[in-house]
Amino acid sequence: MSETPSHPYRHPIVPSRVSLVSPVELRLHLEGPVPPILVDVRPSTERKLAHLPGDRHIPLPELDRRLASLPRDRPIVVYCQFGARARQAVELLMDRGFIHVSALEGGVDEYSRVADPSVPRYWLTPTAGELVIRQFPRSDSGCLAYLVGDPVDGQAILIDPGIEVAPYLQALSEARWTLSGVVETHTHADHLAGHHELHRRTGAPIFVGARSPAEYSHRQLADGEALTIGRDEVMVLETPGHTKDHVTLRIGETLFTGDTLLIGSCGRTDLGDGDPDLLYESLTEKILHLPDETEVLPAHYGRRHALPDRYVSTLGFEKATNEAVRLRSREEFRAYMTDGWPPKPADFDRIVAANLH
Ligand SMILES: [Fe+2]
Repeated sequence: MSETPSHPYRHPIVPSRVSLVSPVELRLHLEGPVPPILVDVRPSTERKLAHLPGDRHIPLPELDRRLASLPRDRPIVVYCQFGARARQAVELLMDRGFIHVSALEGGVDEYSRVADPSVPRYWLTPTAGELVIRQFPRSDSGCLAYLVGDPVDGQAILIDPGIEVAPYLQALSEARWTLSGVVETHTHADHLAGHHELHRRTGAPIFVGARSPAEYSHRQLADGEALTIGRDEVMVLETPGHTKDHVTLRIGETLFTGDTLLIGSCGRTDLGDGDPDLLYESLTEKILHLPDETEVLPAHYGRRHALPDRYVSTLGFEKATNEAVRLRSREEFRAYMTDGWPPKPADFDRIVAANLH
């Protein structure tokens, strides 16, 4: 695993020998009678941006030679920004005989989000040559948009932006990036999309799946095609089912799954032109054979979709836990997609029409 995560949210691939503690559990332990020793393994440059009160600082490269400073009879919780380096540190400590040691799942970022908002969140500058992915959750709609940029040549794309474009424009401005494209993974039925406004404000072209009935000026993405961001390629997989025009984007080991694969479930097929059989084929033929380590960045999170409050996953985790992809046959999947979904939103027809014109 790289020293610096290639994008900000890495959740564990199961199974792992590393014990994890969730942010909420950690907060309870910190307030309990025997609080754990907290160890921050990030470099000083990151630590300046945010850290947990009462912790100790041992950068990961120094950990092995500073073991004597850590007690072996107290629980230790190691953390970093998002969890990957803390898991590395826990592996090392276990190799050196430490027993009561675990990693903070989701890192200080997740801790800030779910356990203590007074801890600041920050956006890490990546090592040279890595794409930066920034996730924009929208609490009003449960939608997730993504800004993906190449910090070397300053080109970026936005995936599934919402109608309020100011946060994206601010992020682009802060990073000094140029928006080279807006991608809609599909015609959204649950929220007004931001592609028109972003095109108007930046001139960036709009990319949609080749089967999209969009009537505005756009460029089509066909199966197997590659879109470029700076020096990097974004592979297009047509994944119809949630809608007929749905595309999934793949950048290296990261999948932007739109509503084809959500965390714990998949997108419903009864709004617009969805089709359970097509979705079954897209999942089984295009998605699920990819490596378990593949990161899953979906277009939705949250209770509105009866899903856990988790924003990012891996294919391995979804194969182990996702109720939609664990179904054993096409027939079971078809039944799952047709029964038990919430009522259709009253205004979805109007939203689809607005998003297509
Ligand atoms: Fe959708």
